[in-house]
Amino acid sequence: MDLHDPASPATGPSPCPADTLTRCRELVEPALREAVSGLHPGPGRIACHAFGWCDVDGEPGGGSGGKGVRPALAVLGAEAVGAKAEVAVPAAMALELIHTFSLMHDDIMDGDERRRHRDSAWKAFGTGPAVLAGDALFALAVRVLSEADGAQGGRAVRQLSLMLGELVHGQADDVLFESRPWTGRESVALAEYRAMAGRKTGALLGCAVSLGATLAGAHPRLTDALAQAGRQWGLAFQAVDDVLGIWGDPAVTGKPAHSDLRRGKKTLPVLGALALVPALGPRLERLLGGDGPLDDDRVRRAADLIDEAGGRAYALRDARTRVAAARDRLRAAPLVAARVDELIALSEVLVDRRA
Ligand code: IPE
Ligand code: IPE
Ligand code: MG
Ligand code: MG
Repeated sequence: MDLHDPASPATGPSPCPADTLTRCRELVEPALREAVSGLHPGPGRIACHAFGWCDVDGEPGGGSGGKGVRPALAVLGAEAVGAKAEVAVPAAMALELIHTFSLMHDDIMDGDERRRHRDSAWKAFGTGPAVLAGDALFALAVRVLSEADGAQGGRAVRQLSLMLGELVHGQADDVLFESRPWTGRESVALAEYRAMAGRKTGALLGCAVSLGATLAGAHPRLTDALAQAGRQWGLAFQAVDDVLGIWGDPAVTGKPAHSDLRRGKKTLPVLGALALVPALGPRLERLLGGDGPLDDDRVRRAADLIDEAGGRAYALRDARTRVAAARDRLRAAPLVAARVDELIALSEVLVDRRA
């Protein structure tokens, strides 16, 4: 594939990100539904519920699934190296399956009862069934990717498995950080947060935007350029998710607010605020530290203090800086310009999102 002479449809404005997501969803969802329909009916129903295809009783419809960011990145990444969108479908499916599996297990770890505007899988179906449904999605993802047409399946599965190791490492740190104090020698440094978020979210977004290109047989120089941009988007995406976890509207995000603060999660707005105003540490420790349930008032006061110290603005600035850096790096790579523009437009919308 000659990527310096791409079939570059470099004319006209890029489609708006909502149209990009719809186009990619329409391409990937039929195959995803077909694959999920082959699961055992128990985990299969939990999966359909998580994807927003059925209600808790298995009746069709009735809800929203995820935004579909990762499948879209996989499709655009393949197109950015000059391949047809269809080549990326197994990668896109695998990524959405892995993402949804990770959310099912994440909600158990984080104790969160709401996801995608519905009860999270463990809340609706019980912890054991939710663990098993996550495992089923994980297994299906590996199978779908390993069965992709062409000679690149092995390379793609290896890429996926390396990413999964990182994701698990990041999740393990995220959970460990909950029990570290807000202030003092044992507190979590910003660099530790970045390493953790880079693993738990950056690795998956980096994999998402490069896995379709891998299936297309792209040169590692190009898949690396895409993956590096995706990792920056992942950090930006997590920073915004951290902001929404404190100040987001649950009616819009479909997820709880304040649960990160209650659990002692070391998210970027809090660490940013502590870096800007170290005197905040002991106050947060008094409000949020200690055992036992926290009343709403204390958590709200903590959120206000973090905002006043500049933590929300810090996290959003960090996200925008990363998206801008990824944009410049991608523009310098020999990729299909129109698809790069579409990727950039999508990444810019993701930092301004409300859900
Ligand atoms: C949520 O991801 C988990 C994070 C990595 C922050 P999304 O915000 O993409 O979740 P859905 O798929 O749209 O529900
Ligand atoms: C996101 O975790 C990363 C993974 C699930 C691997 P979070 O816990 O930060 O995401 P939300 O806020 O629950 O969606
Ligand atoms: Mg969570
Ligand atoms: Mg989590």
